[in-house]
Amino acid sequence: MTVPRDSWSTNAGFILAAVGSAVGLGNLWRFAYIASEGGGAAFVALYLVLVLLIGVPLLTAELVIGRRTGQSPIRALTMVGGRGWSWLGIVFVFAGFGILSYYAVIMGWTGRVLVDTLRGAIPADTGAYFGEISVGGDAILFHLAGMALTIAIVTGGVRGGIERVAIILMPILFLLIVGLAVWAATLSGSGPGYAFYLRPQLSEVFRAETLRQAAGQAFFSLSLGMGAILTYASYLRGKGNLPKEGGTIALSDTAVAFVGGLVTFPVIYHFGLQAGVSGSNVGALFIAIPRGFHSMGAAGTVVGAIFFTALYIAALTSAISLLEVVVAAFIDGLGWPRRRSTWVAGTAIALVGIPAALNTNWLGLVDQVVGNVFLIFGGLMTALLVGFVWSRGADEELAEGFPRPRLRRAWLWTLRTVIPVILLVVLYGAIRAIGPAARAVFGGG
Ligand code: PHE
Repeated sequence: MTVPRDSWSTNAGFILAAVGSAVGLGNLWRFAYIASEGGGAAFVALYLVLVLLIGVPLLTAELVIGRRTGQSPIRALTMVGGRGWSWLGIVFVFAGFGILSYYAVIMGWTGRVLVDTLRGAIPADTGAYFGEISVGGDAILFHLAGMALTIAIVTGGVRGGIERVAIILMPILFLLIVGLAVWAATLSGSGPGYAFYLRPQLSEVFRAETLRQAAGQAFFSLSLGMGAILTYASYLRGKGNLPKEGGTIALSDTAVAFVGGLVTFPVIYHFGLQAGVSGSNVGALFIAIPRGFHSMGAAGTVVGAIFFTALYIAALTSAISLLEVVVAAFIDGLGWPRRRSTWVAGTAIALVGIPAALNTNWLGLVDQVVGNVFLIFGGLMTALLVGFVWSRGADEELAEGFPRPRLRRAWLWTLRTVIPVILLVVLYGAIRAIGPAARAVFGGG
């Protein structure tokens, strides 16, 4: 007996789930932080160019492969590229596995801070507090709880689990974030906060390091280069306009990232917490921001709860998509039912994530290797596969819902030229950045 393959019940459900995958922990902290370091408004402009020039064409490529094949990444890439490309699907599945293993740990910190905010149990010294909750038994506990929640949703299937959760949670998330941005605008420090975030510095934008940061951030934030969007697109039934859908996903994600900075920087400046925000450590999100809320008393409990609820929702809907990549591969590859696939994959990921809950430097290293290098490499290979190996089929599939031959040619041309050149440069920088991350774990100079 063959079970019919899962599918989305509506196109809007698909879009919300894909935006849910993209909008995550990467948006609410890292984007604003990198922007403030990398040239402010000038960085935002560079980022937007990368999203449009690289992000949307590559999202479209993943959407085209997914919709055409209706298969999980390993099978899908084998179908379009031949046997010689199955390894790239395996890399995708490993990336989903690896990213979720530490992503769930950060999600666990978020859950912990949320719970403690609601209990009124955040101490004044949030630095010491974060040190306690981010590693060790408590971190493991909240990591496992987050994985259990993710597993519970993914066992519900595409419609009954992933889509339903996205339809409920994503509108809530948008409302919370916009509400927070409006609230932040009323704070006395908002002016200097915006200025610090967005003060344009053109010179910064032309540094190779800024390009590397912007591209790495774009890949992570758009859930690109590891088959998450491909997998979601494999559950599409209709023949919609894929570049438009890719554009919607990319712009929604970028808008949330941008608005996230309009929340965090006013808070940081209002409470004079600039000094606590050094180093690209995710910890700043869990130290500076809770400290600000703490000093507001009861009102801070309310706003803090809203902030960390939004962050948890963002993380959860991204974690779901990461797990789904691995689960889909198990279902298609091993022929297991969804429930068993989800429990086995989810448990394995939870266990592999435990070291990240014991050592934040290890977490940082896995992030640099899997969350950065793997994604850029995956994006580069996707561009080459679609641009050179499977361009005819891709063009044919894209034409369904996108009958514009000139733009389709421009798309293939971009995948063959601009994107590989930029990604090769970025990949080189990303590989070099592994060194410092590895030294942080293993010591040595
Ligand atoms: N896009 C998510 C974020 O910004 C992370 C993610 C990466 C999710 C890759 C899925 C795939 O947090």
